[in-house]
Amino acid sequence: MMAARLARAVTGHKHIIWAGYHGGGNPDYGITTDKPAGILATIAPYNHQVTWGTFEKIPPYIWDDLACIVTEVPALAWGMPGEHYRTMLEKMQARAQDCNALFVLDEIVSFPRFGASGAQGLYGVTPDLACVSKGLANGWPLAALVGKRPYMERFNQGDIFASWTFAGETTALAAAAETLRLVQETDAIATLQRHGQAVGDGLRALFKDYALPATVYGHPARIAVKWQDIPGIGGASAAELRTLWLAEMARRGVLLGIGVLFPLACWQPSDVALILARAATVCEVMSVAIARGTVREALPCPVITDVLSVRTEP
Ligand SMILES: Cc1ncc(COP(=O)(O)O)c(C=O)c1O
Repeated sequence: MMAARLARAVTGHKHIIWAGYHGGGNPDYGITTDKPAGILATIAPYNHQVTWGTFEKIPPYIWDDLACIVTEVPALAWGMPGEHYRTMLEKMQARAQDCNALFVLDEIVSFPRFGASGAQGLYGVTPDLACVSKGLANGWPLAALVGKRPYMERFNQGDIFASWTFAGETTALAAAAETLRLVQETDAIATLQRHGQAVGDGLRALFKDYALPATVYGHPARIAVKWQDIPGIGGASAAELRTLWLAEMARRGVLLGIGVLFPLACWQPSDVALILARAATVCEVMSVAIARGTVREALPCPVITDVLSVRTEP
């Protein structure tokens, strides 16, 4: 992650604290996943994963040698007031400032879904550096590190290597220019969030009506569904329930992410209605399987496991 490299170059400090998932791992920041094979363990002592906004487990010796605190905005309770996110982001930012370290917001997912100026604009907290990608070019392969001028100008000293095989690729830049224009000049983001609100609210109501052990988390721009275990004989694990949910939805033409559902600006109200109608049918199927204790037998495929259990707290 270029942000980690730049933060170390700017501050001359070594340690990095992060909260969330920040990519697959590289020599700059070790791993932010639970899959360490192939990554040198020597970097691990300089990288510290924390739960969102809590620093109790951080060893005291690192604060004087902290390069940056990196966070993404996590998917918390549905409807969680923006005030909570703002307060926590400010807390992390203040902690970084106290240590002469940088505060980095990972907006790879949140920009521009959370708003034309990302989560930082929505919650009113301006980080020193921010990482953006995914929606930046509406899915075209582009990522960017952005930030406050004095820090970004550190690249001009010429001793930070910042290039890669596809550095000369420019088609995604055109996609980004058009995406940013649309985000600023149209109501695309408001539309996306309106649809997301309707889907999230609708799923919550369905899970409640059918008494299913599933909870909706997150933001209207990024909806997360988490399943809980049903203990006991005839029960089912969260992974089994989730697999049945995904499989039955897919069977009805609605492909969902493993844990997350990203609403799109191009959806029509009819798409929202279709998703919720299919979800209602699936909830019915699932409630019957749960009542009969036949969730496992109902699975049309092996239980889907996480590719990574990263966003799990340390
Ligand atoms: C919050 C966040 N940060 C970073 C990344 C991507 O990191 P990388 O390009 O290293 O895989 C992702 C990808 O899913 C992400 O969700």
